[in-house]
Amino acid sequence: MKLQENFLWGGGSAACQCEGAIYEGGKGLNIMDVATSGSRIRLREITETIEEGKYYPSVKAIDFYHNYKEDIRLLAELGLKSFRMSIDWARIYPTGYEAEPNREGLQFYQNVFDELHKYHIEPLVTICHLEMPLEISRQGAWTNPHTIEMYEKYCRTLFTEYKGKVKYWLTFNEINHSVFYDNDDCMVYSYMASGLKLNAVDNPEQALAASCYSVLKASAKAVIMGHQIDPENKIGCVLAFVPLYSATNCPEDSLAVIHDYDRDLFLLDVLCHGYFPKYKINEYEKKGIHIQVTEEDNALFQKGTVDFYGMNYYSSGMSAAENRGYANGFFHGYRNPSLKTNAWGWEDDPVGLRYALNYVDRRYHKPIIITENGLGCADEFINGTVIDDYRIQYFREHIEQLIKAVHEDGVTCWGYYTWAPIDLVSASTGEMSKRYGFVYVDLDDEGNGTNKRYKKKSFDWYKHVIETNGEEL
Ligand code: BG6
Repeated sequence: MKLQENFLWGGGSAACQCEGAIYEGGKGLNIMDVATSGSRIRLREITETIEEGKYYPSVKAIDFYHNYKEDIRLLAELGLKSFRMSIDWARIYPTGYEAEPNREGLQFYQNVFDELHKYHIEPLVTICHLEMPLEISRQGAWTNPHTIEMYEKYCRTLFTEYKGKVKYWLTFNEINHSVFYDNDDCMVYSYMASGLKLNAVDNPEQALAASCYSVLKASAKAVIMGHQIDPENKIGCVLAFVPLYSATNCPEDSLAVIHDYDRDLFLLDVLCHGYFPKYKINEYEKKGIHIQVTEEDNALFQKGTVDFYGMNYYSSGMSAAENRGYANGFFHGYRNPSLKTNAWGWEDDPVGLRYALNYVDRRYHKPIIITENGLGCADEFINGTVIDDYRIQYFREHIEQLIKAVHEDGVTCWGYYTWAPIDLVSASTGEMSKRYGFVYVDLDDEGNGTNKRYKKKSFDWYKHVIETNGEEL
């Protein structure tokens, strides 16, 4: 069973996880540049600025900034139809507050797009993938009303500058990371999505709600602007979708599924349906959180709905009205005893992808692009390659479910982007050793190594999948 002829077989990346060269080209610091490396058991530390004696993986990353030609040549050899990448906001507006953009930063991305087009690879650009300029974060991030204006200015620059070169855009990556605030782990995730250091904020729950609200407004404004500047633009937004299962057949647990979905999906209600849902307003009122949904904002949400939904899918979760002795699982659900877990504690659930696609299709009636799906694991590099049959199996099982969702369930899906075609720095832990790529990058967790690229076994496998448009897995 094949997918549509123009299906976007892709791979994704983010500037802060691959570019490096943070002191070059007039770039300012972004919020991820000051995140130290961590591990599964040691949280990344977020410092005020780059401090001596600490290792910051974004400083060097995999040096895509200097290697982009070689990397894109490899992506072309892999046969990618599309490459998801982000623009580092602080490369274009170093503090966020400048009146004029940094031409050198603009030129860098111009060069990258030209290189992609040389190989007929369609760029899919995330406008903000965790890369808010540090200065904006210092000024209160999205809780500062001026941040929306700074983001609008940045978007206007991108839509104008890259008109005709970029058609597919994502306003934000995973804005639902900022809806949690209740433990240390969340601090890192919330920071990545909101730019807020929660331990320095008086009322984290209020601050995050306000922050999410501003992000939603900013996204709607970007969608409207992007369509005005170029009606050809297709603009989406990314949310990590975590399908939830009821832990037991207790009715209370099924109800918990719905309430747990509310936690993230109110964002999709705004982005896709164009209204701020009543259930969320009720919840805020009960918790004493104050969010003013004005008529003007509702009109904005209505006008600024996305053209497609960008789904990041890694794992599922389980909901229960009370703990019942379950271990904590991925993204604040409980661990599902019928699923296997990888070394970083993420459960492997291919069927969950089909469930997610169906759920979103039924509820939102928007085309979906799977903007991320992948397996992070420690690869063994032997004789110049990695025999990563486990990665092939992971992708095979997930793509099978994607094809079933399209062919058997009638889901509209425009594309599938693996995370990430080339090894890069892990966002949650800052490690290199949590590897996702079809291409191995010879660097360790402290940035030691030759930084050379090597094809893994999965490289030829994915190439063949693309060549046969998903017919041969
Ligand atoms: C997503 C992010 O949450 O997951 C990516 O959008 C990230 O930036 C990916 O890299 C995988 O997570 P991690 O923490 O293993 O890099």
